[in-house]
Amino acid sequence: MNKKSKQVVIPQSWNEADKQLTSEAVFKQRRNILSLLGLTAVSTSLPGAVQAGIFDLFDDEKVPVVANLNTSINTQFNGKDVLTPLAKVTTHNNFYEFGTAKTDPSENAKNFNGDPWTLTVSGLVDKPITLGYDDLYKIFALEQRNYRLRCVEAWSMVIPWDGFSLATLLSYVGVNNKAKYVAFETRYDPEIFPGQKNKLLGGGIHYPYVEGLTIEEAMNPLTFMAVGLYGNKLLGQNGAPIRLVVPWKYGFKSIKSIAHIRLVDKQPPTSWNQLAPHEYGFYANVNPQVDHPRWSQASERRIGPGGLFSTKRIPTQMFNGYGEWVADLYQNIDLTRNF
Ligand code: MTE
Repeated sequence: MNKKSKQVVIPQSWNEADKQLTSEAVFKQRRNILSLLGLTAVSTSLPGAVQAGIFDLFDDEKVPVVANLNTSINTQFNGKDVLTPLAKVTTHNNFYEFGTAKTDPSENAKNFNGDPWTLTVSGLVDKPITLGYDDLYKIFALEQRNYRLRCVEAWSMVIPWDGFSLATLLSYVGVNNKAKYVAFETRYDPEIFPGQKNKLLGGGIHYPYVEGLTIEEAMNPLTFMAVGLYGNKLLGQNGAPIRLVVPWKYGFKSIKSIAHIRLVDKQPPTSWNQLAPHEYGFYANVNPQVDHPRWSQASERRIGPGGLFSTKRIPTQMFNGYGEWVADLYQNIDLTRNF
C-alpha cells in the first residue's frame, strides 16, 4: 500500500457491500405518485408487503420510453436478461463527481448540460482528433446493445446502451503499434462537477477520475462508447455526453463524461486503484471466485422491474457472463493476483 492510500478514507457507500432492498430514489418516486393520489397516509399504515404491492401498481417504470437517437438494434451480445427500468437506471447511480450517495447524481446533475463538449483522442495514434458535442452522435453509426452492468458493490442492472464500439473510434484515428494501453480521463471542471472541489461530496477521489484498458481490451468488440441509453442521449448522472462501457469488468472501469483518451505505452493510473490498491486492481474483471477483501463477490442483487419483486439475488458469472468474447485475453494471467 502506498503512502497516499493510507491517508484516504474509503467512502462510506463502499465500506459495505450493497444491502438496500429498494433504492431511496425509487422509494421517493413511488411516494410522490402516491401523494399525488392522496394515498400516502393510507399506505404508510399498511403492512410492508401490502405497501410494496401498492407501490408496484404505480411504478413509473411502466411508462413507455420515447427514443430520440437514430440507433440500430444489435442483438449480438444480448442475453436473456430482463432490462432494468429507465427510472432505476437514472436514479440509482455511482458518479462521485456529483456525490457519493446513490441518489446524489440524479439530484445534483439536474442542470447538467454537456454541450459544448470536446473529446480529444491523442498519444500514440496516426491522426489525433478533437470531437465536438454534435460529432459524438454523427461521426459513427449508433447501435443499441443490452449489457449487464455489475458494480463491485454487488448490485447489477441490465441497460440498453446506444453508441459505437471503441474499436471503431480507435480505428478511425489509427493506432500506432507502440500503443499498449488506452488511458481515459473524465472532464475536469469543478463548476460542473461539484464533487471535484468538495472533498466530502467527492468521496476522497483524486480528480480527474481516470481509467485504463490494455489495447487488446480496448479493441475487443464488446468495449463500447455510450452516448445514450434506452434510445435517448445520456443524462448527466449516467455520464453524459460520452462514457465507456466494459461489461465484463466491474462498473468502476466504465468511466463517465470522458474528455480525453490517450494511447500510451505504459499502464496508466486508475482512480480506484490509486485510492485503495489492495482492494481494486487494474483489471477489475468480474470474478465470483475472487472476493473483495470486505465482502463476497459470489452473488449480486439484480435491480429489475416491478415493485415487490424488483430485486433478486442471483449468482455472479465469471466475466459477468461474457467469457466467450473475452476469456482468451486472460489465458496467461493469474486473475487472483491480477484482480
Ligand atoms: N465515472 C466517473 N467519472 N466517476 C465515478 O464516480 N463511478 C463508476 C462508473 N463510472 C464513476 C464513473 C462506478 S463505481 C459505476 S458502478 C458506474 O460508473 C455506474 O454507472 P451508472 O451510474 O450509469 O449505473
